[in-house]
Amino acid sequence: MYISPSVLIRLLLVPILAMVAIQLLFVRAVSSVNMTNPYLHHKCFVTLGKYKPGSQYEKNLKRIINEFPKGSFKRGFISMTLGESPDFIVMLFQCRGDTHGPKCRSCYATAKPEFFKRCPRHKGGIIWYDQCSLYFSTIDSLGMIDYDNNFCMSNATKISDDLYNQVKPRHFIDDMIQNATREAKRDAPYYMAEEKRVGKETIYGMAECSFDMSQKNCRKCLERNNFYFARCFWDKLGARVLGKSCSFRYEFYPFIFPKAGPKYLKP
Ligand SMILES: *[C@@H]1O[C@H](CO)[C@@H](O)[C@H](O)[C@H]1NC(C)=O
Ligand SMILES: *[C@@H]1O[C@H](CO)[C@@H](O)[C@H](O)[C@H]1NC(C)=O
Repeated sequence: MYISPSVLIRLLLVPILAMVAIQLLFVRAVSSVNMTNPYLHHKCFVTLGKYKPGSQYEKNLKRIINEFPKGSFKRGFISMTLGESPDFIVMLFQCRGDTHGPKCRSCYATAKPEFFKRCPRHKGGIIWYDQCSLYFSTIDSLGMIDYDNNFCMSNATKISDDLYNQVKPRHFIDDMIQNATREAKRDAPYYMAEEKRVGKETIYGMAECSFDMSQKNCRKCLERNNFYFARCFWDKLGARVLGKSCSFRYEFYPFIFPKAGPKYLKP
């Protein structure tokens, strides 16, 4: 069969154009996720010290980062450990309960280089983004509540008296904690997103725990932070309290991805 040159060019051009279109779509999808996934905070664990270039610790770290199982993004969380003391390393990565698949992968791709930039050669630390957190340490404290790495960020604006009389953020959060931790979960982190109409406004909230938290520890962690950070947020128009073991947030605007779909697939 004879193919005229113009057809040949068209045959070649179509796939190239399609590829460009796919790439443009991909770039747009990634950048729109980044736009809504701001950096929040980080902490380098100074007491754990730093590693030397070429050390066993650095080798372990590189291996752990490079051997990240692909299924983790679908599930939205993973912990990995490698090596023996003093080069033992534990890594925890978890996406927000409504963030999985490409959004979760994109959050990891953002958080990883940023952690190494902000905590150069540190053996441990945490970095928080809107949709995920990444943690490294030399101490395996899986399952234990972390009381040292919690913080609160609140909206500078105060809630109006009228609104406060209709919804007290601390009570709304407490309600959410009870709801989030009502049922025992075996293979999934505790997570709950809720909304409630209050007059003309709607309050949106979420509460969740690191996947290694038991039902009891999850509730304990959330309740403790709801109490401990009350002065930061009790009368504010929005706030989040984050940590290694648990976090919660409320706003008077929606911030959870709609139709997030099932996240917690059994491994
Ligand atoms: C918790 O669950 C109860 C019963 O399902 C519900 O009425 C309540 O609104 C929930 N709490 C919040 C903060 O949404
Ligand atoms: C503070 O809350 C208001 C009302 O929900 C919101 O419009 C505004 O963006 C918030 N400010 C910050 C810095 O989050």
